[in-house]
Amino acid sequence: MQLDGSTVLCIGGSSGMGRGVAEVALASGAQVIVTSRSAETAQQAAEELRCTGEQVDISDDASVKALFERTGKITHMMITAGAVGRSGFLDTPPDEAPAFMDGKLWATNRCIWYARSVLDPRGSITLITGGYAQWATPDAGHVHIVFAATEALARAAAVSLAPIRCNVIRPGFVDSALWDFLEAEEREALRTREQAQTLTGSLVSPQDIGMVAVSLMTASAMTGVVVPVDGGRHLKPSS
Ligand SMILES: NC(=O)c1ccc[n+]([C@@H]2O[C@H](COP(=O)([O-])OP(=O)(O)OC[C@H]3O[C@@H](n4cnc5c(N)ncnc54)[C@H](OP(=O)(O)O)[C@@H]3O)[C@@H](O)[C@H]2O)c1
Repeated sequence: MQLDGSTVLCIGGSSGMGRGVAEVALASGAQVIVTSRSAETAQQAAEELRCTGEQVDISDDASVKALFERTGKITHMMITAGAVGRSGFLDTPPDEAPAFMDGKLWATNRCIWYARSVLDPRGSITLITGGYAQWATPDAGHVHIVFAATEALARAAAVSLAPIRCNVIRPGFVDSALWDFLEAEEREALRTREQAQTLTGSLVSPQDIGMVAVSLMTASAMTGVVVPVDGGRHLKPSS
C-alpha cells in the first residue's frame, strides 16, 4: 500500500479532519499516531482507530518538545490542531490580536521546529488553513491574517527544511466538533448554506481531507503548494 513502512503523526487526530487523515493513512498502510490535549481522549481515539495516542498541547513549548522526544522517527506530519477564533478587526484591541497568531500560526511553527529533527528527509508536513486565507471580511479579519500567514509559514518551511516537503490543505466547511457550540437548528442552517455554496452539491468530509492529505504525503514532487479541498467553494465569493 501507498504508506507501507511510514509513520504518520496527526497532531489533532483525535477529532474532525485530523481523524479523517488518520483513518485514510491507516487504510493506506501507515503506522499512525493521533494526538489530543487530553491523554484520555488521545487514548480513546487511538483505541477506536487501532493506532497510537499521544497527549500534546501545541500552545505549550515544553509539551511539544516532549512529544517529539517520545515519538521517535516519523515520516509524515499532519497538523490540524490549533485554535483560530473569529473576531472583527475593529472589535479587537491591538494587545489582544497576537493571541490569534499564537493559537494557530506560532503553535504550528513550534511543531515544525521540534519535528524537523525526527522527520524523514523523504517525508512531508501538511498544514490546514481555510477559505478565509483568500477572503478578508470585516467580521473575520484575524482569521484571514492567521490563515494567510500559515500558508506563508508552509512556504518558509518548504524552502528551509527541504528536501522535507511542506504543503497546505485549504478546506471548505467540514461538519466537525469545531461547530459543537452551535444550537442544532443553527448548525443545520449552516450545513445547508455551505452545501449550497459548493459546486459539487456535497459537503466536504474528514475523509475527503484525508484522501488529499495522503496524496500530498506520497506525491514526492509536491511542495510549497496550497490545495483547496472545498467542493469548488473557492470559486464563489464569500458570504
Ligand atoms: N471544520 C471546519 O469547517 C473548518 C474549516 C476551515 C478551517 N478549519 C480549521 O481546521 C482546523 C481543524 O478543524 P477541525 O474541524 O478538524 O476541528 P476539531 O474537530 O475541533 O479538531 C481539532 C483537533 O485539534 C486538537 N487541538 C485543538 N487545540 C489544540 C492544542 N492547543 N494542542 C493540541 N491539540 C489541539 C483537538 O484535540 P482536543 O480538543 O481533543 O484536545 C482536536 O484533535 C482548525 O484550525 C480550523 O480552524 C476548520
